[in-house]
Amino acid sequence: MISHEKIEKNLGLLIVLTILIVSVGGLVQIVPLFFQTSTTTAVAGLTPYTALQLSGRDIYIREGCVGCHSQMVRPFRAETERYGHYSVAGEFIYDRPFLWGSKRTGPDLQRVGGRYSDNWHYVHLMNPRDVVPESNMPAYPWLDRPLVDYAIQKKMRTLNLVGHGYSEEDIESAPGELEGKTEMDAVIAYLQVLGTHAPKN
Ligand code: HEC
Repeated sequence: MISHEKIEKNLGLLIVLTILIVSVGGLVQIVPLFFQTSTTTAVAGLTPYTALQLSGRDIYIREGCVGCHSQMVRPFRAETERYGHYSVAGEFIYDRPFLWGSKRTGPDLQRVGGRYSDNWHYVHLMNPRDVVPESNMPAYPWLDRPLVDYAIQKKMRTLNLVGHGYSEEDIESAPGELEGKTEMDAVIAYLQVLGTHAPKN
């Protein structure tokens, strides 16, 4: 048995033993999550994003919305009263990359789907002050231009590599689904699906 004093006075040994203990502790926490169905199975009714929602999600990333909006309702009373059911792992199965965020200049958006009409979102994104006078959210008027997403089919095929399960038919019809849409339409389609498959308590 190595005495404690020996470990504390021997830096090399201390480093090796610390790494060993932290690794074991980390693995014990992380590995079970790969096998726990609640973290690997989608919540009931959740489907991969449609082509339009997927394009909208990419615009949401491009515009940096995640810098001000989280998508993660924490299991605290103040949050569930305001936003709805707390987030569960199975809601994020098709989120690559996830957009949980860590900054809330604006409200959490994980449950925003269906809360407002498409028209409200349009007005709000064109100029937030028109609907929320005290808002300090930037305006995004340039989103009102034609949506161009040449890579949509490639994106869907790539996501299929990690199990999103788009059918050939979904992929074939994707460019048609985006035709005639604006970037605004895509972002709104994405916002409107957020949280619509939240657990119902
Ligand atoms: C500089 C920070 C900031 C950025 C960046 C930002 N927002 Fe906001 N957002 C806010 C604030 C603050 C509010 C609350 C006031 C309001 O409703 O305008 C808000 C509100 C919202 C709401 C209404 C939420 C609710 O529950 O009432 C939506 C939807 C929204 N933002 C979407 C977006 C989208 C989409 C983007 C990116 C295109 C974006 N925001 C970028 C700060 C931001």
